[in-house]
Amino acid sequence: MSLESNIAAPITALAVDENITFITRRTHEPMWKPEVGELLIETLFSGTNPADTKHATELGIYPAVLGYDFCGKVLKSSPESKFRSGDVVAGYTPTGVGRASKYGTHQSYLICPEEMAFLVPSALPRDHAACLSVVAMTAADVMYNLFRLPLPSHTDTPKCESFKAMLIWGASTSVGICAIQLARESGVYPILVTASPGRHALLQELGATCCFDYKSPSVIPDIKQALADFDVHSLDYGFDAVGSHGDFSSADYVAECVSDEAHLVSVVIQKNPRFKMPFATSNQEAILRVAGVPHPICIPARRSDYQHAWKAFQWAVENYGSRFRLPSVEVFTGSAEDALKELMLVGGEGRGFGKLAIQHLLI
Ligand SMILES: NC(=O)c1ccc[n+]([C@@H]2O[C@H](COP(=O)([O-])OP(=O)(O)OC[C@H]3O[C@@H](n4cnc5c(N)ncnc54)[C@H](OP(=O)(O)O)[C@@H]3O)[C@@H](O)[C@H]2O)c1
Repeated sequence: MSLESNIAAPITALAVDENITFITRRTHEPMWKPEVGELLIETLFSGTNPADTKHATELGIYPAVLGYDFCGKVLKSSPESKFRSGDVVAGYTPTGVGRASKYGTHQSYLICPEEMAFLVPSALPRDHAACLSVVAMTAADVMYNLFRLPLPSHTDTPKCESFKAMLIWGASTSVGICAIQLARESGVYPILVTASPGRHALLQELGATCCFDYKSPSVIPDIKQALADFDVHSLDYGFDAVGSHGDFSSADYVAECVSDEAHLVSVVIQKNPRFKMPFATSNQEAILRVAGVPHPICIPARRSDYQHAWKAFQWAVENYGSRFRLPSVEVFTGSAEDALKELMLVGGEGRGFGKLAIQHLLI
């Protein structure tokens, strides 16, 4: 552990201990000291994700300070860094068993590797910036590394040489919202999505060609009929953006709708070997202890994939508010204890549609 010993500052953190108990922590420990290639950041907002708590209970990542997404102010960087003290940046931090406490973003100060941070442009509100990296980088990994679509560009010309059909199951998840917009920019057509009926108008505005209610008993025949109406003979890409379990999971629904040769991806590990899994932090190897699996699993780094996805992500950042957006971001202000309750909800039964950003300093 590397600490800056001559600066004392109060640090409030949401954490998980060695007994997998979720706790709040207030200390006057010295502030983190950035290594070469790292930034010391004062947290302005930390973005919430289901992973914040699920990674402790399902992937063995504990003890740890919770959180991956953030927007904050640079306090210190390396002399050769492109970032300067006072810059407002956003980004996300590494994962894996043994994750250093300095990387938890639900705390007053944090450390971020420079390659996982970006300058926040004026068109990108800071609370939105704090919620963007994990979900947009996951969607970008799906579209540009696993599906190998052409990157979005600044022109209006669709980039797919011939139109390809895609199904996104659970498109109103935050990952799904990002996926629709990236698919649209890459010229995918038609984009068929499932979501609750209340979301259909918004999803069409973002780029969905047609929407289906995932709770409808006729959802599979309805999707197949729509493909016939579009005169589409093969559904080439199937993306499960939910990762639901159960007798018939969201991935099972996807597999049921697509062609035999389709490329399949699910946001979580699937038993069906046809499905690949994206990884938001593909820049670094990650060790996971998956519940029910006797040995640790190593997710290898895919550095060139990371850089490729980062290009698409930076397109989304640069075009935020015009061609790319998170349609719903709520801000939490209040006590660390109440913030922890919200995190438990996000990782448990879910808060429903949209993102939640926690404003710091937490009281
Ligand atoms: N592999 C990775 O690196 C990675 C990275 C990020 C996230 N993930 C995973 O991706 C999944 C989505 O995360 P998120 O943060 O984007 O989710 P989220 O924003 O919290 O998703 C909320 C939405 O989920 C939808 N939903 C819930 N159950 C559904 C079902 N059975 N079928 C269809 N839609 C359903 C609801 O849509 P309606 O409002 O339409 O009902 C709700 O609005 C999670 O499993 C998460 O752990 C994986």
